[in-house]
Parts: sequence; C-alpha cells; structure tokens
Amino acid sequence: MNRGPLIFFGILLTFATAWCGLVLVPHQQLGDLAPIVSEETGQSFPQARPGDAAQGARLYASLGCVACHTQQVRPEDGGGDIARGWGLRRSVARDYLYDRPLQLGSQRLAPDLANYGERLGTNPPPYLHLYNPRAITAGSYCAANPFLFTLRAVTGAPALDALQLPKGFAVAAGWELVPTAEADQLMAYLRSLRFSVALPEAPLKVVEENK
Ligand code: HEC
Repeated sequence: MNRGPLIFFGILLTFATAWCGLVLVPHQQLGDLAPIVSEETGQSFPQARPGDAAQGARLYASLGCVACHTQQVRPEDGGGDIARGWGLRRSVARDYLYDRPLQLGSQRLAPDLANYGERLGTNPPPYLHLYNPRAITAGSYCAANPFLFTLRAVTGAPALDALQLPKGFAVAAGWELVPTAEADQLMAYLRSLRFSVALPEAPLKVVEENK
C-alpha cells in the first residue's frame, strides 16, 4: 500500500498546526496593538525614542548590558518586582512597540531597568556609575565603561560635566574626565526607560489601590 500521501498530509498537518500556534494566534492576539493616546494630555504611549536615546539603545545592545539587566516587570503575583520599586505596574507587550531589538533580557543578575528613567527622576544622571560602578558601590560587578569618557588636561575652568571622582579613582591633578557623545547617548537611553502610563491591560498599582 502506498503510504506516501498519508505521510505527506501528516507532515503538512504538523507544520500547519505549529504555524497556527506560533504565528497566526500570536498575530491575532498582538498584531493590532497600537499606542494609546491619553485623553487628558493628548500624548501617545509608547513613543519612538528620540535620536540620542535610539543611538543609546544600540550602544546598550553592543555593550551587552542585557546580559545582566532585564527590562520586564513581573506582575505582583509573579514576583516582588513592584514591591522592590522597579515599576508601578507589570510590563506588557504594548510597552515594547517601538523597541528594535527587544532588550528584555533573560538573566536577572542585576536590578531591572524597565522603569529606570522614572526611578532616576530629577536626580543627577549617574555618569560616574557608567564610568566605574565600583566608584559608587564597592564590590559592584556592573560593567565599567571607561572608554565612554575622555581624559583631557584642564584648560581654564574645569568642564561642568567633568566627573567628580571619589578618592581612589581620582585622575592626576590638572586632568579631567568628560563624557563622550556615546556616554550622553547611553545616558539618554537609560533616562528614556520609563513606563508609568496606565494601560487598559495593565493599570498602575497606585490607581488600583485608590479605587
Ligand atoms: C556582569 C553583570 C552586569 C553587566 C554586564 C552590566 N551591569 Fe549594570 N549592574 C549590575 C549590578 C550587579 C548592579 C547593582 C549594583 C550597582 O548598583 O552597581 C548594576 C546596576 C546598574 C545600574 C543602577 C541600577 C539602579 O537601580 O540603581 C545601572 C543604571 C546599570 N547597572 C547600567 C548598566 C549598563 C548601562 C550596562 C552596560 C553598559 C550594565 N549596567 C552592564 C550588573 C551588570
């Protein structure tokens, strides 16, 4: 008996089912996701990152920050992320509409950065942390990026953006370390990491509590 057609249709059915499960169903669930527009402010969320931050996203990818830092806040019943202050709500697919590549990360060896810009608030940008995390947190194993800074002789007044280095990290007298354009771009990216806008599928925790 010729079993060829049976085998052929069996294989076809296997691949068709897999295609439906992995492509068609996710597309139906998420394919129409669009930014939401706030009725109060008229602003849409999420927004594409502006130039500097978009460059910074590429640097973040190329420097391998994603090896240790995740960018995804788990729901309250799925872990302690919200209690730790890493976000006001869980992350959902809509948050990443404009992120290419996605930098979700899979190994959480360090604090989640999904909402880092919001956490930073109006605090001074942590350039010193980018230069050498050990200058702030003794024993930190976060990656140092000295190549994002230029060592140059002070001419006249010290530059306003020169790093204020603590003891043990100071450079020779008459010299200063200033951020390069790449350091500014990476910082712009870190500051752009924020998602404290309530979404229909993920309300903010505070809003939920005040109900
Ligand atoms: C080898 C793992 C590792 C890598 C790679 C790494 N980090 Fe970190 N990072 C850490 C750890 C651990 C901490 C927490 C200790 C500290 O604050 O230094 C941290 C902390 C931070 C913080 C402060 C977070 C907070 O909530 O205060 C920032 C910002 C940060 N890292 C940015 C970066 C950037 C940008 C890169 C890529 C250039 C990077 N990290 C690469 C491990 C890593």
